[in-house]
Amino acid sequence: MIPFALQVKGFQNMQKVLKTVAKNMPFPKPTLFNGPGSSLQLCEAIAQMDAQNVLIVTDAMLVKIGLLDRITAKLKELKVNYVIFDGVEPDPTYDQVERGLALLQQHHCEAILAVGGGSSIDAAKVIAARATNNKSIKKLAGMFKVFRPILPLYAIPTTAGTGSEVTLAAVVSDPVTHAKTPVMDPKVVPLVAALDGELMTGLPAHITAATGMDALTHAVEAFISANAFAETDANALAATKLIMKYLPIAVKDGKNLEARQQMALASYYAGLAFTKAGVGYVHAIAHNFGAHYHTPHGLANAIVLPHILEFSKDAATDRLAKLAEASGLKTGKESNEKLAQKFIDHIKAMKKEFGIPEGLDKLKQEDIPAIAKAALKEAHFTYAVPRYMDQKTAEQLIAQMAA
Ligand SMILES: NC(=O)c1ccc[n+]([C@@H]2O[C@H](COP(=O)([O-])OP(=O)(O)OC[C@H]3O[C@@H](n4cnc5c(N)ncnc54)[C@H](O)[C@@H]3O)[C@@H](O)[C@H]2O)c1
Ligand SMILES: [Fe+2]
Repeated sequence: MIPFALQVKGFQNMQKVLKTVAKNMPFPKPTLFNGPGSSLQLCEAIAQMDAQNVLIVTDAMLVKIGLLDRITAKLKELKVNYVIFDGVEPDPTYDQVERGLALLQQHHCEAILAVGGGSSIDAAKVIAARATNNKSIKKLAGMFKVFRPILPLYAIPTTAGTGSEVTLAAVVSDPVTHAKTPVMDPKVVPLVAALDGELMTGLPAHITAATGMDALTHAVEAFISANAFAETDANALAATKLIMKYLPIAVKDGKNLEARQQMALASYYAGLAFTKAGVGYVHAIAHNFGAHYHTPHGLANAIVLPHILEFSKDAATDRLAKLAEASGLKTGKESNEKLAQKFIDHIKAMKKEFGIPEGLDKLKQEDIPAIAKAALKEAHFTYAVPRYMDQKTAEQLIAQMAA
């Protein structure tokens, strides 16, 4: 057995390679329309780019509440043909992707428009990749496995959380093991995206809170990552400032368009930060809560976040202090240690204010070793965490996350 300290050296060396790639490789970014009503501008871009047959990928709930009505009316007006695939569910599975792909092929669609939360955008990314790559989803999962350019992909997020409209990730779940198997490749970044706060004013408060905490987790994990650099720092700080100011407003007063629009932008900034700097243990554990208990992604992150920050704070004091400052928590000449703690305590208070539970009621003691093992495997081979933990420490920490 290799001593843990030596293993950590290996993980850190691997992360250095990833950092060099992220810093130097040109990452595509979508052309962005930002502002209330911008989803209609995106429809115009689709028409200008000459897409004739578009597959709209979304979830049934959004169709039911009429969220797509203005978008489909605009496409009709612009004489763009479309067919709707509304079979995406939270944490999309391989078979949902395959059903969307079958519809795309049946109607000879040559472009995809995703309208929805991270689940719809991620499913659309994988449908678009499957359409042009002769590879199963299993073979597309992992890093840099999408060899051919995907179909033109347009994205309209309806939650302010995942940042999927700008990231190189698409999270789909294996239907047998329920494990989340991300496809990570710059080729899955959408061509055009629209941040339209008007589409978010009906998002229920509890989903607003959970998805907003997902965006915050992206910003925080990217900022304290050993792979952070000036560009990701700028995006992470901007996201943190906006989220701390506008998330409480959006949760309390969902109809506040300014708060919705700023949260959409914050989620985009946080996506830009973590697509290059990566996330960390919070996401690794949250993904496995999702796999075991179908816990919504944002909620899982919100439960895990303070625990991992407490664990990491001695190795990330200065960074957490900067996040505290960006959150407006610096009042005098406090030490960085004090500021770092203030930031963590502020997150705990926000969770309480939003009615987010402190622990996960479904968490079973007997599942903890497997959750810890899978989370450490994900984290150590993908993320540049500021402080490393071994299996025993992970199990102890996760046990504290039970309700
Ligand atoms: N690609 C990435 O970079 C990335 C990053 C983080 C998370 N994810 C993945 O994204 C998924 C989660 O996405 P999500 O948190 O956006 O949630 P989601 O897409 O699963 O949607 C959650 C619920 O909100 C509803 N909803 C969405 N928009 C609405 C609106 N405007 N009004 C009313 N209801 C609305 C949906 O119908 C659904 O029931 C997970 O699978 C997660 O793993 C991906
Ligand atoms: Fe996330």
